[in-house]
Amino acid sequence: MSFGPLAVAIAVTVLAIGLILLANSGRAPRTGEVAPNLAPPASNEEMESKRLNKTLTWALAVSAFMAVGLPIYFATELGRQSAFEEKFLEESIHRGEELFVEDGTTGHGFGCAGCHGAGAVGGAATYNEAKSGVTVAWEAPALNDVFYRYDRDEVRYWLVYGRQGTPMPAWGVEVGGPANDQELDDLMNYLDSIQISQADALAQADGNVADEILKVQDAEAIFVEALEEQQMTIQEIEDAPAVAQILGNLVRVADEEINTPAGELTQLLANAPNGLDTDRDGLSDDDEAKITRLLDDAADRLGRDTLGATSIRVELDPNNSFSELNSLGEPTRDLQTARNVAAALRAELGAVAPVAANQESILAGAEAGMAALLDNQAAAKYQVDFEAIAERSFEGDIEAASRGYGLYSAYCARCHTSGWSAGLPFTVEPGSGALGPSLRDGRTIVQFPDVDEHVDFIINGSENGIGYGTNGIGRGWMPGFGAVLTEEDIRLIVEYERGL
Ligand code: HEC
Ligand code: HEC
Repeated sequence: MSFGPLAVAIAVTVLAIGLILLANSGRAPRTGEVAPNLAPPASNEEMESKRLNKTLTWALAVSAFMAVGLPIYFATELGRQSAFEEKFLEESIHRGEELFVEDGTTGHGFGCAGCHGAGAVGGAATYNEAKSGVTVAWEAPALNDVFYRYDRDEVRYWLVYGRQGTPMPAWGVEVGGPANDQELDDLMNYLDSIQISQADALAQADGNVADEILKVQDAEAIFVEALEEQQMTIQEIEDAPAVAQILGNLVRVADEEINTPAGELTQLLANAPNGLDTDRDGLSDDDEAKITRLLDDAADRLGRDTLGATSIRVELDPNNSFSELNSLGEPTRDLQTARNVAAALRAELGAVAPVAANQESILAGAEAGMAALLDNQAAAKYQVDFEAIAERSFEGDIEAASRGYGLYSAYCARCHTSGWSAGLPFTVEPGSGALGPSLRDGRTIVQFPDVDEHVDFIINGSENGIGYGTNGIGRGWMPGFGAVLTEEDIRLIVEYERGL
């Protein structure tokens, strides 16, 4: 036992004894006894010898206890405090991880990982690109290096307010979100705990640059894929009424055939209501055959074997009560298999029915999206002329020009190039401005006539309420890149930007 609880135990015991004595002292004196205030006072001899000695001995004992005990108590207090803080932080990180990873369907959490990736390595969010209405995979940045770019207050700001015009939701209760202060702290403590080393952060630059240059080289293929995907979306909308009808019929049948409540399963074993149940799994032989046939037929007509993760081509064997595996690959009782398919059918119907009901307007939207994609393909605004960049800003050095462009695209474009986060088919001229201001037409040279000031700004980022450059007013939104990019690389970006 450590000293703290022992001290408390002693104090409580002494207090309890004191209280008992106090309670007793108020009782009426027993016969023959004289109340202390009526008794004759003790004589001087008695007072100055026995009594005095006793009192002084007690005083000495208590002083000694204070003199030795309290310093010992204080000496251990610091360690106890830091151990407590450590444990507190550990628990906070654990809660933050849960909030980050889990979502409403799996537990209590905000599902950040669904967009930012497991371990916050970066990911994508399904989002409607505003101008075209096309559904895109919007880039969600890695957060395992976010504290190299933003300080804690700045990260908190994005958590509370989200980022308008992007899929990043506002989480703070002050703006109607679900996260209270404690949860925001937990999230940040978790993010803090998974930050990669600075060496690793710096080492990512080469790969990031290569990815961006590859994207430009693969532009044609990227467009072909985007057009195909949009064509599939259009096809799905066109098929929606027919699909809704097939699913609707199946759901009706499913409701009639397999809505046996789970609790009745045991009763059904002896005496299946719908006929002979050879494998005693709660579904009669006839129903098993019927369900198998119906689903097979539906799969043919739908032209697909699965709905989400659930297979709809199931074969229920009347002689085997575990004919199929579920979507997790576990052997599953036939009645449960039938119920799983029914649930998947219902969910799919829920998604398709509204599309079928509003087919005309939704189709018009998707076709406009297709037209926008074709326009973007023809305009080819994403195109990069590395030679021209080299001539303009890098004295003909194509390698430096490519790296400057690649670094800008990987680290800056998501806030300074309109459409970049929605993918190459939506990307317009570099530096056209998005969350961050436009950097085109020599704007950065006006803002930072001195190159070194420009470099300094990229290294440190902006601070809320603090001016920068010629007429800039910081909001703390522009991250600092000094910890994740070498100064050499930052100078390449700066040269590239000054030529935009
Ligand atoms: C629906 C998808 C989605 C969810 C859920 C989501 N985010 Fe985001 N988040 C984004 C996107 C996209 C961005 C980048 C926005 C942009 O394009 O500027 C972003 C930006 C951020 C940023 C700013 C980082 C930077 O470098 O610009 C932080 C911090 C952040 N998110 C934290 C979180 C946390 C913590 C959660 C969970 C509470 C969360 N996000 C949930 C999509 C999401
Ligand atoms: C998360 C979004 C974001 C990213 C990423 C980002 N910026 Fe910014 N940038 C901003 C915002 C917003 C401002 C305006 C300052 C503010 O609001 O605090 C800004 C301002 C600037 C300015 C000043 C422009 C002016 O005329 O006022 C320059 C130059 C700049 N950024 C360059 C860069 C470079 C270079 C990178 C990449 C290394 C980059 N930015 C990455 C958001 C971003």
